[in-house]
Amino acid sequence: MAIPAHYIQELLQRNNIVDAISAHVHLKRNGRIYKGLCPFHSERTPSFTVYPDTQSYYCFGCGAGGDVISFTKEINGLTYIETIKMLAQQSGMPLPDEDDKLSRLKSRIYEMNKIAARYFHANLNSENGKNARAYLRQRQLSDKTIVNFGLGYAGDDWRGLCNYLKSKGFTENEMVSAYLVGRSDKGNVYDIFRNRVMFPIIDLRGNVIAFGGRLMEGNGPKYLNSGDTPVFKKSNGLFALNIAKKSGKDSFILAEGYMDVISLHQAGFNNAIATLGTALTNQQAKLIADYAKNVVIAYDSDDAGQKATRRAMDIFSKEDVIVQVLQMSGAKDPDEYIKKFGRERFEMLINKADSALDFEIYKLRQQYDIKDTQGRIDYLTKACDILASIPSPILQDVYCSRLANETGTDKNSIKLQLEQSKNKAYRNNQYQRSKEILKEGIAGSIKVDYRQQGNTLPKVFAQQQIISAMIRDNDIFNLVNSQLTEDDFTDLNMKNAFVQYKTLKEEGQDVSYALLCHLLDEETRKILAKINVDNADIIITQNDLQMHIDNLKSAPMGQNEIRQTSVEDLQKRIESLKEKRK
Ligand code: CTP
Ligand code: MN
Repeated sequence: MAIPAHYIQELLQRNNIVDAISAHVHLKRNGRIYKGLCPFHSERTPSFTVYPDTQSYYCFGCGAGGDVISFTKEINGLTYIETIKMLAQQSGMPLPDEDDKLSRLKSRIYEMNKIAARYFHANLNSENGKNARAYLRQRQLSDKTIVNFGLGYAGDDWRGLCNYLKSKGFTENEMVSAYLVGRSDKGNVYDIFRNRVMFPIIDLRGNVIAFGGRLMEGNGPKYLNSGDTPVFKKSNGLFALNIAKKSGKDSFILAEGYMDVISLHQAGFNNAIATLGTALTNQQAKLIADYAKNVVIAYDSDDAGQKATRRAMDIFSKEDVIVQVLQMSGAKDPDEYIKKFGRERFEMLINKADSALDFEIYKLRQQYDIKDTQGRIDYLTKACDILASIPSPILQDVYCSRLANETGTDKNSIKLQLEQSKNKAYRNNQYQRSKEILKEGIAGSIKVDYRQQGNTLPKVFAQQQIISAMIRDNDIFNLVNSQLTEDDFTDLNMKNAFVQYKTLKEEGQDVSYALLCHLLDEETRKILAKINVDNADIIITQNDLQMHIDNLKSAPMGQNEIRQTSVEDLQKRIESLKEKRK
């Protein structure tokens, strides 16, 4: 998707970052920069910084950073193209060509999916769908449920949908890109979903974005799901979120399967959702947290389900949502449970669902015999390791009391053990970090986590300063370009920035931060955004710049040297280099 640089240039000129951000954040001016409360994480003191000179922003709290395009994209949850479109519309610009092509394809796919869903549904009610109807009846789904979820049936023949869509004027290429139709090696097209009960997946705007298809009998994978298409990303999608969102409940039930969700809805739990045949992802957890305060995980009771529960808890722990875990016995999943024991009993399970922490400790408790001294010690040690990872001291204290009662151990010794666990966790983190830095260093391109303030290594620091200076003052480029080549940039992010900068220059563009961003990945954008803000009130002299250039041309630092160089050493080193120059 190549949008020409001149188009982006024009777009940037028409969309000032301070205005764009002011629509969402209350900004206060402070010298050359503006500050406000970060819209991307919750905070009480402003660490979100906007720097109009380079038209960039950076948050010292969460590391969010970029230009007006990335801000608009993130704050509205849009794709890149959608963002460009939005900014173009807001500032009265026509849309670029490529953009039109993709959005046209998208609306064709939405259209095709809608037609396909109707086709499958009609099929289910036809003579052809007799077996499928019998199957759904045997699964105890009512007609009302079938209609509510728009369930359908994909017939047995190889080109049923294909021919139907063709008669509606769709091309084979369009069908293939919607993941409704496949193409054989010989180039023949065929329906992907055959002889399956069909579950349409519907987004929050009511568009059919994908399908799941269940085999009723015979060989083959039980479920077949749409792959990613221009309108669907499996790892973002959630089944029945469109209905759960409208339920008006602020608590959701997260189940494993389509059938669980449908059963739950039929039993009145219209706040049930499921992922689409994949483990829960961060994006899905975020999406859930956007709509619900509370999630009850109701995965299958088998080992796989319990493992997945633990993973999901981990992922949810990064979100602002209360997690509870439902413990089911006597049935393998919610669908079976409701059929066996009824909706009231399921409701009771929900009401007594454990907190995530209780679940962890309960699982641990099952592994030890606490009547045995060693068993008791092992159990308490492991339990303290779990408690060490929760941030609330009050909650830690509550659990220490409980553990003391449960095992007949003095609470103070448990608290001592907890302190040890906390120290251990801290040491582990430190060790992990230094190992990562080392690994990255050995890999040749020394990449440093730029969010860890001050941890930047010497050569990388010089490279970042050079690029940042070039952005602020285009005249500097010639000075740099006459002395350095892209190979002098050992940091891959800065190398890429240099190469892209050079290309833009060769096209005769004035290179601004925002224009450069358009060609950079997110990580590089953020690094540069931070340096822009860091340097906002600093004047980089020709001398400083030359020092950085010389630094890059001198012999590389050895691994040992890198390992031993602390941030303070680094700063001293730069100061002394400066002194020498004077
Ligand atoms: N799944 C999948 N592909 C498979 C099996 C499962 O994509 N071959 C996904 C589906 O989204 C399914 C979920 O994993 O809904 C859970 O699997 P399972 O528990 O086997 O399915 P149920 O929805 O419970 O279906 P059923 O009750 O019909 O067995
Ligand atoms: Mn199941």
